[in-house]
Amino acid sequence: MKIALASDHRGFEFKNMITTFLSNLGHEIVDYGTLNGTDSVDYPDYGLQAATAVGRGECERAILICGTGLGMSLVANKVKGVRATVCHDLYTVEMSRKHNDSNALCLGADVVDENLLEKKIKLWLETPFEGGRHARRVGKIMDIESS
Ligand code: RB5
Repeated sequence: MKIALASDHRGFEFKNMITTFLSNLGHEIVDYGTLNGTDSVDYPDYGLQAATAVGRGECERAILICGTGLGMSLVANKVKGVRATVCHDLYTVEMSRKHNDSNALCLGADVVDENLLEKKIKLWLETPFEGGRHARRVGKIMDIESS
């Protein structure tokens, strides 16, 4: 899968860990920055680029990391076609795919359990959307974009 990654300085180390993990699984990574964890940067500058890649269909999914995951989700959900979800545990990761067809996973470097990181990402990548009544609901969300 082609996956866009972006972080601010707070999420930089996790972005590196995720890059290694996903590359080892055979995924193609497009890294939209930031490029180090020392310079304080603005998360919208990086999150927007990665989310836009998903909105345009250039990448299938995005994983966005800032301090809390919240700022990145606010940015990504402004981009047409993106359904970004902040998931702090395995249950919300699973449901974000099954019910919300999440295509952008937002993680908080300050709150994520490092021991669960790989498990969460694998679960998010592998869990299918259930469709059915959830497709109707997600469709209503997507209709808001064009109204
Ligand atoms: C940066 O200090 C911090 O605000 C950012 O990483 C993120 O948590 C915003 O939502």
